[in-house]
Amino acid sequence: MGACHFQGLLLLFLLGAPTLIMAEKFFCQKGTFMGIQENPASTFNWTSEKVEACDNGALCQETILLIKSAGTKTAIVATKSCSLEGTPAITYIQHTAAPGLAAISYSNYCEDPFCNNREGLHDIWNIEATEEETEGTTGLRCPTCLALGSCLNAPSLACPNKTDRCYQGQLQVSEGNFNSLLEIKGCTSIIGCRLMSGIFKVGPLWVKETCPIRFISTRKIDSGAMWLHPSVWKLKLLLILLLLVLGGSASGP
Ligand SMILES: *[C@@H]1O[C@H](CO)[C@@H](O)[C@H](O)[C@H]1NC(C)=O
Ligand SMILES: *[C@@H]1O[C@H](CO)[C@@H](O)[C@H](O)[C@H]1NC(C)=O
Repeated sequence: MGACHFQGLLLLFLLGAPTLIMAEKFFCQKGTFMGIQENPASTFNWTSEKVEACDNGALCQETILLIKSAGTKTAIVATKSCSLEGTPAITYIQHTAAPGLAAISYSNYCEDPFCNNREGLHDIWNIEATEEETEGTTGLRCPTCLALGSCLNAPSLACPNKTDRCYQGQLQVSEGNFNSLLEIKGCTSIIGCRLMSGIFKVGPLWVKETCPIRFISTRKIDSGAMWLHPSVWKLKLLLILLLLVLGGSASGP
């Protein structure tokens, strides 16, 4: 009888297991894109023809980071894939708002097969576009560029109304085995190296923002003292560290 029971179980296993595995296998669109595009809201098609079979318990995800500089140019870093981390949710972040440079990100984690099927950027873009670029200039001019890798040139352009300083920085965006570098220069009202507003994880993307030490040049000469201050502070810190290192090696064997 025991053997009969065992055989029954075995049969159940043989019949049931493959269908169970089939049921749990699930698929997502797969793809990455990085580039600079003109007017992506009307031209960019985010559909990926590639398909990825996911591990058990995975979700689909689609994530995009958009950086807009003067004019119509926009840098896009986009990814679609299976994901073993995250919970079903849509996250929209306006890191930096226009006028001047703008940075927004959108990420969608969802649990149905092929649910990462967004095609256009229309509605993502529209939220961003509510912050109208105010015409008129402040008299301030900034080197302006947006490029994958580094900018070949950065013409000095008049800044739009409501911006008051120049931004200059790089974003290193990475995920798994892709890694891309964006160079960004332009007018802004954000203070410091905060185009990403301090956020370094967007969906599965890691974003590292770096700026040269003198990344801000404000309009008024007297504000020069403001960015002298941190460098003096850094110099002091460096001296203290140097003394510590020297002290440490002097007392060593
Ligand atoms: C995007 O591309 C897919 C296939 O490549 C196509 O089926 C779809 O209609 C396109 N969407 C738009 C809005 O052009
Ligand atoms: C900014 O724009 C407003 C109207 O939108 C205008 O009245 C003002 O003069 C502008 N400021 C500068 C500095 O151009």
